[in-house]
Amino acid sequence: MKARNGGLLLLAVLWGSSCGDMAQPSTAPHTGVGKADAQRQYMMKCAMCHGEQGEPVLLTAGDLRESTLGLEERIAIITYGKGTMPPHKDMLDAATIQGIANYIETFRH
Ligand code: HEC
Repeated sequence: MKARNGGLLLLAVLWGSSCGDMAQPSTAPHTGVGKADAQRQYMMKCAMCHGEQGEPVLLTAGDLRESTLGLEERIAIITYGKGTMPPHKDMLDAATIQGIANYIETFRH
């Protein structure tokens, strides 16, 4: 009896939270957050290893100015990390990751 009530409560919580997500205003789905927000996050979360313009500070970090990765690959690396680069899925939401992935492409020349 006790377990059954617990299950129902959990279900209600899950249902409630997914409804809450749906009620939130959607951010632009294809471009992520705006450039200013992406740049601010980049400076705080990435620049200590990748430099303010994509030039590697940490010597093992790839030079983002030379990167040839596509958008999806950049999003995957930022989200899940690679080698010694930490994953960012717990500190940045998907729209921010996408915005940063677009932002770092501006380092290429
Ligand atoms: C602790 C240092 C560190 C931080 C913080 C960090 N990175 Fe990295 N990043 C690395 C390292 C090291 C690599 C190379 C990984 C490898 O190839 O093994 C890398 C690789 C990458 C690559 C792949 C480049 C290529 O062409 O192969 C991208 C894109 C990238 N990082 C973007 C970011 C972004 C955007 C952020 C911030 C959200 C970030 N990184 C934060 C260390 C870091």
